[in-house]
Amino acid sequence: MERTMRTPIIAGNWKLNKTISEAVALTTALRASVADVNGVEIIVAPPFTALAAVSDAIAGSNICLSAQDVYSEDSGAFTGEVSAPMLKDVGCDYVIIGHSERRQYFGETNESVNQKVKAALAHDLKPIICVGELLEERETGRTEAVIEDHVTGGIVGLSAAELLSCVIAYEPVWAIGTGKTATPDQAQEVHNFIRGLLAKSHSVETASQLCIQYGGSVKPENTAELMAQPDVDGALVGGASLEAESFAQIVKMAVSRQ
Ligand code: 13P
Repeated sequence: MERTMRTPIIAGNWKLNKTISEAVALTTALRASVADVNGVEIIVAPPFTALAAVSDAIAGSNICLSAQDVYSEDSGAFTGEVSAPMLKDVGCDYVIIGHSERRQYFGETNESVNQKVKAALAHDLKPIICVGELLEERETGRTEAVIEDHVTGGIVGLSAAELLSCVIAYEPVWAIGTGKTATPDQAQEVHNFIRGLLAKSHSVETASQLCIQYGGSVKPENTAELMAQPDVDGALVGGASLEAESFAQIVKMAVSRQ
């Protein structure tokens, strides 16, 4: 499939970490470290409680804000949930949807992912749709079936223009927080498979424009080889995004990928 230029996207998923003051300290240090970086979309995804403070701390910078989840309804009797208009209001541009931890621990399904994606798009938030297989699924040869299920289930009913506002993050569950990264070849194989799925569901042109991130134990030491793969367009970083220095290093390594 012909490659077109895709701006690399490096996102830090802070998960259940950082108080407000810690979040602001991390953001302030990161902002200074990446101030000169051009040509990479830099995203931080703090917990809900720190979104407002981080939004202030990145004002006027080259860093964008993401939430880690969103609810599918805009408002109403849904105790504990946060909606797309609320995330837009606090300054988010992106929202992570369908992270494997939400699928594993909080009952997220392809259907709920799809509803959340549509809610996000309706409010001009860009969904980062996470897909990925469990170790057991890989070991029993079901990786492609699982990825196909997650990708096609997550994007049901999206127009080409809507799909192009999305980012897909391939995060093999066995590589998350384990220190075990997919090899560059393993990542490339699945990224290429995802692009093929998007070519089938939409068009080759749309598929070639979409950014597909890799996630799972991304660190400064393995970023270059992963980003050197033709279909790896960025990284969704967990642990290594909790320190400004390591996250900034990863961001800078993505510059050459442009
Ligand atoms: P780690 O980088 O800590 O493995 O986490 C990856 C991840 O889940 C990002 O969303």
